[in-house]
Amino acid sequence: MSPPWSVCRLETHSDGRGRLVAVEAGEPHLPFEIRRVYYIYGVPAGQARGFHAHRQLQQLMIAVSGGLDVILDDGDKRHRVRLDDPTRALLVPPMAWHEMHDFAPGTVCLVLASAPYDESDYIRTYESFRAEAAVLATGAVS
Ligand code: TYD
Repeated sequence: MSPPWSVCRLETHSDGRGRLVAVEAGEPHLPFEIRRVYYIYGVPAGQARGFHAHRQLQQLMIAVSGGLDVILDDGDKRHRVRLDDPTRALLVPPMAWHEMHDFAPGTVCLVLASAPYDESDYIRTYESFRAEAAVLATGAVS
C-alpha cells in the first residue's frame, strides 16, 4: 500500500532581497480550503508531540525554520519524514497517525488545516486508531 501522505516542493521566489514562498488554495499540494493556521515553536530538546490521528482533518505542515521528524503511520506501515526545509511541505491526510520528534532548536512548524479545532475529530490512542483504521480498510461496521 502506498503511503497516503505526500511531500511536495513549494515554489520559491528568490531575488537579491531574500526568498518568499506562497501557499495558495487550488494548488495541487493544497487540496483543501484553509480554515485554520497554527504553528508550533519553543519545543524543548528531546520533547515529542502529536501522537494522534484525525478522522476528517487534512493538514499541510511546513518547517519554516529549523527541522523536525514526522512519523506517519497508516495502521500498517510507519514512515519517518524529515522536514527541515521551508520549501518542502508534508500533506497529512485524515486517518494518518502522526508523531513529531527530534525538533532542532528554534524550530517553527507551520500547519495549515482544513477545519477549525475540533477535539472530537482526534483519535488520541494508537490502539483506537488501529481499530478505526481496520474498520475503514475492511469496510466492516463496528
Ligand atoms: P495538542 O493537540 O496537544 O498539540 P500537538 O498535536 O502538537 O501534540 O494541542 C496542544 C493544546 O493546544 C491543546 O490544549 C489543544 C490546543 N489547540 C488549540 O486550541 N487549537 C489548535 O488549533 C490546536 C492544534 C491545539
